[in-house]
Amino acid sequence: MGEILIIAENLTIYYDGYRAVEDITFRLSSGETLLLLGPNGAGKTSLLRTIAGLHKSYTGKLLVFGKPPAEVKDLISYVPQSHSLNERVPLKAIEVVAMGALYKRGFIHFNIPKSVLKEAEEALEFVGLGDIKNKRFAELSGGQKQRVLLARALVSKPKLLLLDEPLSALDPSARVEVVSVLAKIKREMRITMIITTHDPNPLTEIGDKVMLVNKRLVAFGTPEEVLRDEIITKVYGSLAKAVKVGERMYCFIGDVHIHGRERR
Ligand SMILES: Nc1ncnc2c1ncn2[C@@H]1O[C@H](COP(=O)(O)OP(=O)(O)OP(=O)(O)O)[C@@H](O)[C@H]1O
Ligand SMILES: [Mg+2]
Repeated sequence: MGEILIIAENLTIYYDGYRAVEDITFRLSSGETLLLLGPNGAGKTSLLRTIAGLHKSYTGKLLVFGKPPAEVKDLISYVPQSHSLNERVPLKAIEVVAMGALYKRGFIHFNIPKSVLKEAEEALEFVGLGDIKNKRFAELSGGQKQRVLLARALVSKPKLLLLDEPLSALDPSARVEVVSVLAKIKREMRITMIITTHDPNPLTEIGDKVMLVNKRLVAFGTPEEVLRDEIITKVYGSLAKAVKVGERMYCFIGDVHIHGRERR
C-alpha cells in the first residue's frame, strides 16, 4: 500500500465538555479500506465527521494528507448516515449527483452547467445507473438511492471517501448492489475509504483493516486480527462469535447497543 494518509494520535472528540471518543490512535495508508465497527453510541459518526473536517472540537493529533482535516476538505467526500435530501423537492437522480460537484465549488444554482452534467452522468454510469439519470430520486429503490449518493460523493473526485453506514437501511440484495459498487471504487479508482457499519460481514471482502471502537479503541488491524472471539466479545458480549469461511472472516454479533454491556 501507499503512503500514510491518516494519522490519529490520542484523538479525543468533544461535544462541549462531553468526551464522545477518547484516546484513539491509528494510521491508515493510501488506497486502504477501513471498516469502522462499533455499537450504537460508540463514536463512529463522531470519528468520521472529525476526519471529514466537519467537527473541530478535538484534542490530540489528527492529520489527513499531512494537514488538519479542515484544510483538505476538497480532497474528502463524506456521505452521512441518513441523507438530508428533501425528497419532496422533485430532483432527478442526475441533479442530485450534479449537486455534489456544485456544492464543492461553492455555488448552487438552477441552471447546472453542461460540463457538470456530463461529469454527473459519468459518475452515474460508474455506479451502474446511467439509464435512470432522469428518474426522480424519491422514486428510486433504497439500493439505487445509495448508489446515487455514492455517485454524488465521487463527482468531486475525492481522494478519501467517508461513508457512514451505507448499508444500514438496505435489504440483502440492495446490500450486494452497493457493496459491488464499493468494490469497484476500490479496484478502479483506488480511493481510500472509511466505512462505518454495524455488520462487517458484507464488507469484509473489501476491508483491508477493521477498527473496533466503543468510545475507546478496542482493536485495529486486519479483519483476521480484529474479528476474533476474544476481541469482539469485549464489546458485543459472550455470545459474539467470529468464523473464517474460505479466506473471509464473518462474525455474529447479535444486537447489543450499550457500551460494553454483556448479554448473558
Ligand atoms: N451533536 C452531538 N451533541 C452531543 N453529543 C453527541 C452529538 N453527536 C453524538 N453525540 C454523542 O457522542 C457519542 C457518540 O455518538 P456517535 O453518533 O458518534 O456514535 P455512533 O457510533 O455513530 O452511533 P450509531 O451507531 O448509533 O450511529 C454518543 O454518546 C452521542 O450521544
Ligand atoms: Mg453513527
